[in-house]
Order: sequence, then C-alpha cells, then structure tokens
Amino acid sequence: MYKKIVINQVGAPEVLKVVEYTLNENMLRPHEIRIKHLSIGVNFIDTYHRSGLYPAKLPITPGLEAVGEVVMVGNKVKRFRVGDRVGYCAPPLGAYSEVRDFPEEKAFLIPKEISSDDAASILLKGMTVEYLFNRTYKIKPGDTVLFHAAAGGVGLIACQWARSIGCKLIGTVGNEEKEEVAKKNGCSHVINYTKEDVVKSVMEKTDGKGVAVVYDGVGKDTFDISIDCLSKRGLFVSFGNASGMTPVTDLFKSFHPKNLFFTRPSLMVYNESREELEKSSDTLFRMILEKKIQTLISQRYSLLDATRVHKDLESRKTFGSLIIKP
Ligand SMILES: NC(=O)c1ccc[n+]([C@@H]2O[C@H](COP(=O)([O-])OP(=O)(O)OC[C@H]3O[C@@H](n4cnc5c(N)ncnc54)[C@H](OP(=O)(O)O)[C@@H]3O)[C@@H](O)[C@H]2O)c1
Repeated sequence: MYKKIVINQVGAPEVLKVVEYTLNENMLRPHEIRIKHLSIGVNFIDTYHRSGLYPAKLPITPGLEAVGEVVMVGNKVKRFRVGDRVGYCAPPLGAYSEVRDFPEEKAFLIPKEISSDDAASILLKGMTVEYLFNRTYKIKPGDTVLFHAAAGGVGLIACQWARSIGCKLIGTVGNEEKEEVAKKNGCSHVINYTKEDVVKSVMEKTDGKGVAVVYDGVGKDTFDISIDCLSKRGLFVSFGNASGMTPVTDLFKSFHPKNLFFTRPSLMVYNESREELEKSSDTLFRMILEKKIQTLISQRYSLLDATRVHKDLESRKTFGSLIIKP
C-alpha cells in the first residue's frame, strides 16, 4: 500500500487527508510512466486548489511538481526507461503521493549534478522565473524591475536571476528576516512594506519615474500599489494571488492615465508545447549548473504533515522553497 494526500472537500489546511491506495502492478496507460517520488515541491498554487480559489473536480490529490524514479513504463513510452530520474511541474494534479502515473510528454530527465530535493524545490518556481524574465518581459542589464514577495519561493530565484543579468530588482518583503534573505540573494533594494511606503520608496529609487515592469504574485493587496509604481506605458505582470484574486477594476481609471499594459500569464500556457518545456527546463538547468542561481530550501516536511505545510506557507512566515519528503 502507498500513501497520498486527498482532498474530498475544499477548505482550510485540515481538509488535506492521508489515504492509502494501490496501483495496478500490471497495467499502465501506453504513454504514461510510473514515478516513485523522491521529493515533492510545494507551491502556493497547491493552496488555491485546496481552498477552492482555483476550482477542481473533487476528489483530488494536490501537487504539480515532483522528482522521482521511473519504476514502470507504458508500452508506447519512447523517452524514458525504468531507472531514469525524472521531474515534472505540470498538471495533472497528484504530486502529493508516494507513487503515481504521469504522462511522459510532460516529464524530463534531471541532470545528475542536481539532487532530487534541489530539483523538486526549483522546477516549477525556476521555470516560472524563466518565462517571466525571458518571455513575458525580457529583462536586460541596467533595467530596474519591481518584484513582490521577493523572499518567497519564486521571489528568491528571481532575485538571483536578475542579479546574474545585471538587472536591478526592487523587492518587497513582509519582515526583517526576509529583508536579510532577499538582500543576500541579490535583491538590489529591499522594501519591507511593514516599515516603508512601497510607492514612495520605488519612486525615490527611480528618480520619480517608476519601474517599467512590476511582477506581482501577491494579487489583491498589491494591485493598486503595483499600478502606482509603474512608469508610463509600463507592464503589469499579475502572475499570482497569494493575498486573494486581483480586484475587478475600472480599466479607464487604472490603466488609461499612464497607458499601462496588463498581462495575467501562467507557466502552464508558456510551457504548453514539448518544445517550450524543453527549452525552459534546459535554460533553468543551465542557470543552476553555471551557479547563477541556487535553491534555498527552508523546510522539509513529511507527506503525513501536509496540513502543517499549508498552514506554514499561508502564515507568510516561510521563505524560499518548501519540499515534502514522501
Ligand atoms: N502564474 C504562474 O505561472 C505562477 C507560477 C508559480 C507561482 N505563481 C505565483 O507566485 C506567487 C509566489 O508563489 P510561491 O509558491 O513562491 O509562494 P511564496 O512567495 O513562497 O509565498 C507567498 C508570499 O506572498 C506574500 N504574501 C503577501 N500577502 C500574502 C497573504 N495575504 N497571504 C499569503 N502570502 C502573502 C508573503 O510574502 P511577504 O510576507 O514577504 O509579503 C508570502 O510568503 C504565488 O502567488 C503563486 O501563485 C504563479
């Protein structure tokens, strides 16, 4: 018997229940691989599936990211063999489990130099930074950008990525410990929003012009701040909603005065094709192997402790990446 987490009804972290299950040892869909998980990545999106913010047909096993060993392959699988170490960061949901079946099309090999824990902590968050910085708005040396939650999982990778390019990243954080971590990881100017006015600080640091792009994964609480921090014809990249969904807005009032652009991107669309996925994962692995970015795993949890993981993540006290050990 294996163990996995199941959600039968959406709600608080307590709805994450441990259940035992079996898999058919003799059958696998033709294009699927069976993966025995070695390490599971925790992402804020997991809390949206649990709370119901992103509706899913229940019951579900949450989780979009893991690394593991291939223990069985379907009869049409071409890319992988039993014994390969693979990773993924895409639907279908189900990563909070010991063993699962997964479409080969969305999996890729993990370079031997990268440990399973490190990979599980950086695949989804790192490829998110890859598309945000390379494809949504291409950051360049000398640019100044604003990034909210700079000490979070995605945030700390963004800080290092921007530093490696010579782009100045102004990052917001919610406490003093996070100030330190963000600075250490390459954030050029850290704004602790519990002590400083974000808009005022950003304007001071940009000679009153504002920034050309804001990367906002916080959502509801930062929506107006992000608009106020943008320069004329700036780009608002709204890529998450840690504080709740962005509000419905009067486009004329919000976006017309500075002629702003708005986009609401997602990794699933940016890495939809196999070609995009391979390019994105190759770029991420190169950044890691060239030591331009590294993972920062702040906590490891047992699969049986999924409720605590979600409580911690939503408490805003965590920084960097969290992983679950199956
Ligand atoms: N669109 C995409 O493709 C994509 C892909 C990956 C992640 N994301 C999004 O990126 C964001 C960051 O994800 P992550 O997994 O790295 O999480 P995270 O940044 O480690 O955690 C979220 C952080 O958001 C900040 N926050 C501000 N208000 C909050 C509130 N009311 N409740 C909880 N947190 C709040 C907190 O940092 P402070 O205390 O420092 O403010 C918190 O630590 C999330 O919104 C996620 O959905 C989007």
